[in-house]
Amino acid sequence: MPRLSLSWLGLGSVAASPWLLLLLVGASWLLARVLTRIYACYENSRRLQCFPQPPQRSWLLGHLGLIQSSEEGVLYVQDLVRTFGDVCLWRVGPLHAVIRIFHPTCIKPVLFAPAVVAPKDKIFYSFLKPWLGDGLLLSSGDKWSRHRRMLTPAFHFNILKPYVKIFNDSTNVMHAKWQRLISEGNTRLDMFEHISLMTLDSLQKCIFSFESNCQEKPSDYIAAILELSALVAKRHQNLLLHMDFLYYLTADGRRFRKACHLVHNFTDAVIQERRRTLPDHGIDDFLLAKTKSKTLDFIDVLLLTKDEDGKTLSDEDIRAEADTFMFGGHDTTASGLSWVLYNLAKHPEHQEHCRQEVQELLRDRDPTEIEWDDLAQLPFLTMCIKESLRLHPPVMAISRCCTQDIKLPDGRVIPKGVICRISIFGTHHNPAVWPEPEELHRTDVRHERDEGGAGADAAALSGAARPRGAAQEA
Ligand code: HEM
Repeated sequence: MPRLSLSWLGLGSVAASPWLLLLLVGASWLLARVLTRIYACYENSRRLQCFPQPPQRSWLLGHLGLIQSSEEGVLYVQDLVRTFGDVCLWRVGPLHAVIRIFHPTCIKPVLFAPAVVAPKDKIFYSFLKPWLGDGLLLSSGDKWSRHRRMLTPAFHFNILKPYVKIFNDSTNVMHAKWQRLISEGNTRLDMFEHISLMTLDSLQKCIFSFESNCQEKPSDYIAAILELSALVAKRHQNLLLHMDFLYYLTADGRRFRKACHLVHNFTDAVIQERRRTLPDHGIDDFLLAKTKSKTLDFIDVLLLTKDEDGKTLSDEDIRAEADTFMFGGHDTTASGLSWVLYNLAKHPEHQEHCRQEVQELLRDRDPTEIEWDDLAQLPFLTMCIKESLRLHPPVMAISRCCTQDIKLPDGRVIPKGVICRISIFGTHHNPAVWPEPEELHRTDVRHERDEGGAGADAAALSGAARPRGAAQEA
């Protein structure tokens, strides 16, 4: 093997093989990377000095672990909002910085930035990737834009209208179950569990036209989705398990893989079955038959949609979107609905007002079911739902990663490379946005009610549920 002299490195007569040279080049490259990273961190730290920060746990941990997924965590966020008002700096370990945002004026430049400037933060969503693939929630750049355009027809109100019947049917099954449980002497039930099954049942019908009867009997597919959602939430709590190679060695990791497999097999089977029926009819006949006979489901829309060049979605893309909608649609709506029921239970006077509004609308009607056009005729109920979503948002925060500097209206700059955590909960509980975010709503409504009777309810609720800026403009 030829030997090279390294005298030019000051190593005297030491001779080295090309391997040693390679090692030196590698080590120099690594050192350069580390130094660049340290310099970037130092530079970012300097630029981030204009953002206030709460006390850190230590220089090593930073603020890591200070916000738990618990009631204490929620109270801590409320404290942060009261103390800092719009933004604060959050350190994750000694190197990573996060800007927490809880005011619309600072959220706007981040969410209005082009998708390439503030893409979704990959770290936060990465655990969902093996399950949801490149669906809308996890994809970015051109793929996201193309799919977003291609999925627009799925939200046309002609497609959505017939879904209301599906929601009614699934809700009726849930109510029948509750009545049966009550008649059997049960006085307590876990609402969220029942409502989750109901939203999953509805989604399975809207997305796949599949009747699993999951509210009445166990379904492997639905059990797998519930398990996947629970496993992802659990994994977030344990830093060690954030590393893929460790996670998939654990029992939870193996369960995650198995459940993913089951869910993918279900979606693939529906897609294949549907593809088989598509060509026989021809698109126009197919559409006509579908609209006459039944609802056009989400899989149909995904199979039929085309981009500007006439290209359709691949089976893999369709699976990712269908799985994404099953995930994105069940937990959020179940949480939202559970909180609406909780809040109505806490405020029987508003509950009664909602009941009267619905009964008034349905009076002399047969069948007595809510339809699409009715939804606009329920202003008080709508306000209650919105107010409940404000107080208890199902998604507490979303994350974006700045690939370029982003300037805030007050001139401060969020440097490139920093993660922004947009706190939906914090913004909705920010006293600078909503007057007395926790209390005012309840007390004011009662107060107005005493003075103005039931008719003042809606005005009071809408007044309380209007952010400061809007109230001032009005
Ligand atoms: C109360 C109910 C819901 C809430 C609170 C909610 C909340 C959210 C939030 C905050 C995001 C933004 C995530 C981010 O940008 O990082 C999001 C995105 C998304 N949601 Fe929902 N969601 C709800 C219902 C649904 C339903 C019913 C579906 C589907 C059936 C759905 C499907 C999606 C999808 C596909 C995305 C990604 C959109 C994109 O990036 O283009 N969501 N949702």
